[in-house]
Amino acid sequence: MVNIGKVADTNFEAFYLKTREIESRVYSDDVAKKLPNLTNNHAQFKEWQLRLKTLNRITNYLSTFKNKRILEIGCGNGWFTNKLNQTKNIVLGFDVNKTELTQADELFNGIEFWYHDIQLGLPDIDKVDFIIFNASLQYFKNLKTLFPICNQVLNKNGELHILDTYFYNTKSISRAKQNSIRHYKKANVPEMGSYYFHHCLRDLPPHKVLYKPNIIVQKLFSDSPFPWIKIEKSDLN
Ligand SMILES: C[S@@+](CC[C@H](N)C(=O)[O-])C[C@H]1O[C@@H](n2cnc3c(N)ncnc32)[C@H](O)[C@@H]1O
Repeated sequence: MVNIGKVADTNFEAFYLKTREIESRVYSDDVAKKLPNLTNNHAQFKEWQLRLKTLNRITNYLSTFKNKRILEIGCGNGWFTNKLNQTKNIVLGFDVNKTELTQADELFNGIEFWYHDIQLGLPDIDKVDFIIFNASLQYFKNLKTLFPICNQVLNKNGELHILDTYFYNTKSISRAKQNSIRHYKKANVPEMGSYYFHHCLRDLPPHKVLYKPNIIVQKLFSDSPFPWIKIEKSDLN
C-alpha cells in the first residue's frame, strides 16, 4: 500500500500523465520492470542506455554503503527506486503522481512509497542519509525553499544527489523557457508549461560535480548529457 502524505496540487498529475502518454513514456508493467534495459528496437533504447550509465555510477557509489536510508524524490514508476533498493540500503520513494506510484508499489517490494510533496514539509518518517532527485528537480519551482526542507530530513553527514536533470546556462535559459512553453502548447498540454522549471548550476548551494558531461566523451562513449551533482547537508541551508 502506498503511504498517504500531503499533496496540495492534485492538478499536476493529469497534465503530467497526458504529456507522458503523448511522449510514449507511460510504461506497461513488463517494460517498467525491465528499465533501463529496453530491447534495441525500442524507440527510446538509446536514451535509456544513457540513463543506464547514470544508474551504474550512482549504484556503484551507494554500494559502498550498507543499511543507510535513501529517499528518492519524484520516483515515478519506481524502476530506479528498485535499483537503489538492490544496494543493501533502505529505500523510500516520494511522488505526487498516484498512478505511477501505485504501479511502483505493485511492481517492487520492500520499498516504502509515499504519495507526498516534500514542499509541504515532512511526513512521519525517520531521517534519511541520502536524498536523490533523478530526472525530477525540473518540476520544483523554488530550490531556495526546497533545499532547507530536504536538510531537515537528512541525518548528520547526509547528502543530496541530483541526476539526469539538465542545468541551463544564463545565456540559454530564456530561450529554453520559451521552447518549453512552445513544446507543451504543441503537445496540447499548455498547462505543463507552468510546472516545468529551468535551473542553472548557480541556483544551487555549494556542490560537487561528480560527473561532468563533455561533448566529446558523450559522443565517443555515448555517455549522459546530464551532470551528477552532490550537495552536502552542511551546504543545504
Ligand atoms: C521524469 S519522472 C522521473 C521518474 C524517475 N525518478 C526516473 O528517474 O525515471 C519525474 C517524476 O517527478 C514527479 N514529481 C513532480 N513533482 C513532484 C513533487 N512535487 N514531489 C514529488 N514528485 C514529483 C513526477 O510525478 C514524476 O513521477
